[in-house]
This record gives sequence, structure tokens and C-alpha cells, in this order.
Amino acid sequence: MVFARNQWYVVAYGEEVGDGLLARTVCGEPLVLYRTGAGEAVALADRCVHRRFPLSESNRDGDRIVCGYHGFTYDPDGTCVAVPGQTRVPRTARVPAYQIVERDSLVWVWIGDGRGDAAAIPRAPWLESPSYTTVRGMEPLAARYELLVDNLLDLSHETYLHAGYIGTPEVAQTPITTETDEEAGVVHVSRRMKDVECPPFYSRSTGIDGRIDRWQDIEYHPPGFYLLHSRIAPTGVEPGPDGDDSDAFHVEVGYAIVPETETTTHDFWWVARDFALDDAEVSAFLHDSNRTVVLQDVVALNKLEKVMASEPAGHQELSINIDTGGLAARRMLQKLTAR
Ligand code: FES
Ligand SMILES: [Fe+2]
Repeated sequence: MVFARNQWYVVAYGEEVGDGLLARTVCGEPLVLYRTGAGEAVALADRCVHRRFPLSESNRDGDRIVCGYHGFTYDPDGTCVAVPGQTRVPRTARVPAYQIVERDSLVWVWIGDGRGDAAAIPRAPWLESPSYTTVRGMEPLAARYELLVDNLLDLSHETYLHAGYIGTPEVAQTPITTETDEEAGVVHVSRRMKDVECPPFYSRSTGIDGRIDRWQDIEYHPPGFYLLHSRIAPTGVEPGPDGDDSDAFHVEVGYAIVPETETTTHDFWWVARDFALDDAEVSAFLHDSNRTVVLQDVVALNKLEKVMASEPAGHQELSINIDTGGLAARRMLQKLTAR
């Protein structure tokens, strides 16, 4: 597999990057992340130019990193400023520094050549909005990231893999609409369910005990950013003629699908809600339930990765209607990786 280079990827949550040295690999490139005294997040290649010692296992001296093996010392821009046993620093002594943008509490890194356009980074304003409360996490996945893209674009699996949490029979039974916005580079998949059962994930968090109208509107921004706008309301509660939808419950589910290596993935996930904002019990319930759901996917996709690794090349899959979104996503990814 070829990674989609010249792209922005989520590398961490803002709060993960601090005084310590955080190791994280994106698209096969090992990085070390930390925050300077002035609060800037820094990402350097995680390999000393001298004998390759990981800088993430080294030490900080103010804003600098001192290699834990023989003491080469690096500035936040990757320049080596001191080497042991000599006053002259070789001119080529520098580790690559990666462009970082922090936005909506996410830390993005540019994997590619030159400088990326920060305006191209997709937004998730809920993550920092006072009108929402967010729970989130990240699970390591021992599977290629395309399997997670497939998984998230086809929510009909909720009925089977996530029964008792977010899946009810109607999810798999309701047809989807799929639209590809080539210009914006976004795949939209929507499913509108009317007068359906409320799964525990939503009944316990919202307090609704009857039937609901449930909307799922997905935006997939290749290669690795996924938003699910989820609307839940007691059946019959419609948005007003002016578009006012304040009588519904809104849950903004999101994922950053970040390739670590060819066959492993960082599975960042979050759930933001616009109700019960200060209710710690609702937060704990949504955190634990969503983590359980994510882990159900992780277990399934880890199995698929093993199957794929053991099968002969050229195996033919069978696709059906529910795969339309996933197939559109694959086409977009293919274009990005061909660049
Ligand atoms: S490996 Fe880093 S200074 Fe030698
Ligand atoms: Fe799932």
C-alpha cells in the first residue's frame, strides 16, 4: 500500500502534547512531539542523526531535546546546536521538523513535501464549543486504515456488530443516500429513520423513552477525517420552518483515521453532545459505551486484517447497496494515493 502523502493528519489531541516527549508514527514516519515553554506544539523526526537513537526516549533541556545516547542537542526547528566532544557542529546535523497546526483541540501534522495549506484542514468546532460537551479517546488498531474507512462509511453494521449499544434493526433496513462532492473532496452518506426504536446509547443519554426519528449524516474527508452528525428526537419532532431544531438532541460523533504503518492505525474517536452538558454520569456513560463500540470494531477489523494478510492476491469481494459510500471513499483515496 502507498500512503496518501501531501495531506494533513491528526497526530494527537492537544492535551496529549505537553512537557513530555510523545512518540507517534504517522504514515510510517516516526515523530516525537512536545510543547515548547511558549506553548507551541513541535514535531520532529524521531531519530537522532548520529546513531538513530529515538529522540522520544531522550531528554528535554528547556525547548531543546538532548539525545539520550551521546548528547546531540536539537532546537525545536530540528537544527542540531551542540555535539559532544567538539565545538564544531556538522552542517548536515539536523532532523526534519514537521509543520503543525492546532485547531479545534486537535493537533494536525503535514505529511509531505513543502508546506501544507492550513485552510484545507477540515473543521470540528464542537470539540471546543461551550455549547457541547465532548468525551474522547484513541484506540490502536492492528489493521490497515482503509478497513476503518470502510467500516465507518457503512453504518448498517451497527445492527449486527453493535446490537444493544447503537444498533437496532432499522439501521440496516433503511436505505442510504450517497453523494460525492468532487470539488470539496467529501463523501456524504445519509440515512433518515422515522419512528424507530431508540437504542440504549441514545435513550440512556437523552432520557427519551419512546420511539424516535433518527438521522445519520456522514461527512468523510479523505484521507482520514470523519464526521457523523447524529440527530435524535422523539417521533414527530421536526425542525421548525425557520430551520430551528433546538427540540432535537444532537450528537457529533467523529473519528480521525490515521495510518500508523501499512497495517496499523490510530483510531481517534469523540462524541460531542448538545444536552446534559454538565452531567458527569452522561459523560461517563457515553465515554464507556462509545469506547465499547469502538473496541467492537477494532476486534472485527483486526480479524479482517489477518484474513487479508493470509489470502492470495486478487481476492474478489462482493459489494452491495450499503457499500456505495465506502466505494466512493475508496475511489477518492485511490486518487490521493496515486498523486
Ligand atoms: S545517537 Fe544521538 S547522539 Fe548518538
Ligand atoms: Fe462500528
